[in-house]
Amino acid sequence: MGTDHMGRLEKKIALVTGAGSGFGRAICLEFGRQGAHVFASDRDDDSNQETVDLIKEAGGSATPLHLDVCEVKDIAAALSTIEQAHGRLDVLVNNAGITQREDFRHITDEQWHEILDINLTAAMRLSRDGLKLLTAADGASIINISSIMEGVHVRQLSAYSTTKAAIAGLSRSIAVEYAAFNVRVNYICPGYAATAMTERILRNEAVRQGLVNRTPLKRFAAPEDIAKAALFLASDEASFITGEGLTVDGGMNIQL
Ligand SMILES: NC(=O)c1ccc[n+]([C@@H]2O[C@H](COP(=O)([O-])OP(=O)(O)OC[C@H]3O[C@@H](n4cnc5c(N)ncnc54)[C@H](O)[C@@H]3O)[C@@H](O)[C@H]2O)c1
Repeated sequence: MGTDHMGRLEKKIALVTGAGSGFGRAICLEFGRQGAHVFASDRDDDSNQETVDLIKEAGGSATPLHLDVCEVKDIAAALSTIEQAHGRLDVLVNNAGITQREDFRHITDEQWHEILDINLTAAMRLSRDGLKLLTAADGASIINISSIMEGVHVRQLSAYSTTKAAIAGLSRSIAVEYAAFNVRVNYICPGYAATAMTERILRNEAVRQGLVNRTPLKRFAAPEDIAKAALFLASDEASFITGEGLTVDGGMNIQL
């Protein structure tokens, strides 16, 4: 075991979607460091394998799963693999997501359905179909990745914002029903972070600087900031927290 192993998720079984990049990778690495067995999943097998290799290099334990969150058969296969290996799931992180920039009046039905399927419907399906495994754990937790865009809005992100607001509503609704199964459901609202998702817009120096200036703490989120928030919500330290959104944005959304 690596020297930075800290054990706040000791013996927990975790499934993370979109694990090949950005927040998903950072969450997997943090969970691995904290003693969880991480099922890292993505539709991109190469980047997902890199995440698994990084976890193992740091002394953690992980299994790669091919999981396109839009494919019902992939979801069924992933849950079945976890069931056969461990019979339970302690932490589910619905992180996989895409963005789109489009004027609302030009959004096509195809664009709309694609972003809803990946950013919203997938979290519904995994949370619904994963219940049996989550119930088998002794106090499980679902963490959904929303965004500050669930509550503040900018041009050309209407479809994205819709999915993120819906993720907040979905999380709170499921929290009410899943409390009976001892499953907590929370969501994280990250601010801007430099990941593959934001690469194109942050290449514009004026935009980049403008966003930093508008953030009271004067920087972007690091993927590790989101991973630490996920760690807290996944851990037993958050055992009385459910239906809650944790904003991790350096104060951006509260400043006029
Ligand atoms: N980067 C930001 O500034 C930011 C801010 C707020 C919220 N978020 C949210 O955080 C989450 C992660 O974003 P990121 O910045 O790490 O993005 P990213 O583009 O770096 O990583 C997203 C990952 O999801 C995977 N993915 C996409 N579609 C998939 C599918 N159908 N099935 C399985 N995997 C799929 C990709 O292959 C990729 O590995 C997303 O839900 C995003 O909306 C990001």
